[in-house]
Amino acid sequence: MNDRSVLNIQTLPENETERQFYFMDKAAGYVETLAQELGRKPTCCVTTFGCQMNARDSEKLVGILRKVGYEIIENENADFVIFNTCTVRDNANQRVYGRLGELKGFKRRNPKMKIALCGCMMQEPSVIEKIKKSYNFVDLLFGTHNIFRFAELLCSVFEQEDMVIDIWEGTDSIVEDLPVERKYPFKSGINIMFGCNNFCSYCIVPYVRGRERSREPKDIIREIENLVADGVVEIMLLGQNVNSYGKNLDNPISFAQLLQEIEKIEGLERIRFMTSHPKDLSDELIQVMKESKKICRHLHLPLQAGSTEILKVMNRRYTKEQYLALAEKIRREIPDMAITTDIIVGFPGETKEDVDETIDVIKKVQYDNAFTFIYSKRTGTPAAAMEQVPEALVKENFDRVLKTVQETARERVARYEGQVCDALVEEVNENDASLVTGRLSNNTLVHFPGDASLIGKIVNVSLDECHGFYYMGHMV
Ligand code: SAH
Ligand code: SF4
Ligand code: F3S
Repeated sequence: MNDRSVLNIQTLPENETERQFYFMDKAAGYVETLAQELGRKPTCCVTTFGCQMNARDSEKLVGILRKVGYEIIENENADFVIFNTCTVRDNANQRVYGRLGELKGFKRRNPKMKIALCGCMMQEPSVIEKIKKSYNFVDLLFGTHNIFRFAELLCSVFEQEDMVIDIWEGTDSIVEDLPVERKYPFKSGINIMFGCNNFCSYCIVPYVRGRERSREPKDIIREIENLVADGVVEIMLLGQNVNSYGKNLDNPISFAQLLQEIEKIEGLERIRFMTSHPKDLSDELIQVMKESKKICRHLHLPLQAGSTEILKVMNRRYTKEQYLALAEKIRREIPDMAITTDIIVGFPGETKEDVDETIDVIKKVQYDNAFTFIYSKRTGTPAAAMEQVPEALVKENFDRVLKTVQETARERVARYEGQVCDALVEEVNENDASLVTGRLSNNTLVHFPGDASLIGKIVNVSLDECHGFYYMGHMV
């Protein structure tokens, strides 16, 4: 699929970054004309669904929209609206369709309004067909592989009446140095790799994000150095499986080695990363985490299921026993490490007894938090063709898992009550403006008296009272 307007390639810079800056200039001209027509600065709104990868992608979109002259607002009644979509579970898709219906009303009242859809859902051909048929008021569709071409696509939207559709099946390119606008001045996500090669049998991500590609360490380091110079103290390294980072680079390097390089960056205070696949978590990484002063005491280690049989069909490539041994090793080496996880309930063939195994792992590992999902059938994945579990059984099992998670996590999170810990202040509390909210190294939140001047600072907080998943405290 490639409906883009034909370009005169000779006049364009060959280097992809320069090429996109060329289109940003051009788009700025279109936005300027629109501003004159409207008699005000045009507004835009980027709405993000899904994971931190998508959140980071949205920051790239906002960076370009700001550069070409849009005013960024949080209201979808804007001159340009983009939905950056997720398709990991069906409810993510349904939310997008619901919100699209609302946009139709806005567009009726503002005929100059432009609507774009991008992200993981767009990589599914059935979704493109549905939008063409039932949502033909949308102006632009693009996918995950060509997001770096956003400025160019934006120009096409101004030049073309019909829906602009540009979906790529894959890409080897990683385009550096395009504008980004961070949501938070003091913390940032950073892509260290794109795509996934694991093909867990329930998961659509490898199909919509393509094969695994790692960024060059020097590009990652340079980006972090620039961020730190710009006020960032905490970074989150992003990848679907950070533990396999660097294996396919021309000069291979391990994730643990990359972390050691990042640790040396002066002014950087905290390092987080997401996500660690248990099958690839090395002893080297455990040692590096143990010795690090900057790597946060939080490891997200998705279990998915506790039954070895189910894990096998899921293609997770570890057994219950291997997972437990790994968690135990981490606890032994780094006792203050918070471990969180993802769990799927209702995978095809999962019995009550299988779920008992999951519950057994939750009790043994004592997670600080666990995100529990009901299995969602994704078209094109191997699990979609397997026999599905009856809804009533899934519901019953889901409730049992959730109850166990809540009970164990409550106990686990409370273990620091009365202690003093470092917290990075993130925002003024939404419900009570006399409080601010800080994040501990182990990812737990603490609310305490303070004001906006503390935002972005790391302060010492006494954790006075644990309320389930968060603390109330005071600064010391
Ligand atoms: N790369 C990460 C996970 C990315 S998706 C990892 O491997 O851990 C985030 C979470 O969504 C997964 O951990 C899984 O628990 C959940 N998930 C993925 N596909 C799903 C599906 N089809 N139904 C329900 N949950 C799913
Ligand atoms: Fe999906 Fe598995 Fe890849 Fe995670 S590792 S993104 S669950 S296929
Ligand atoms: Fe969703 Fe895509 Fe992330 S499917 S979870 S937004 S990689």
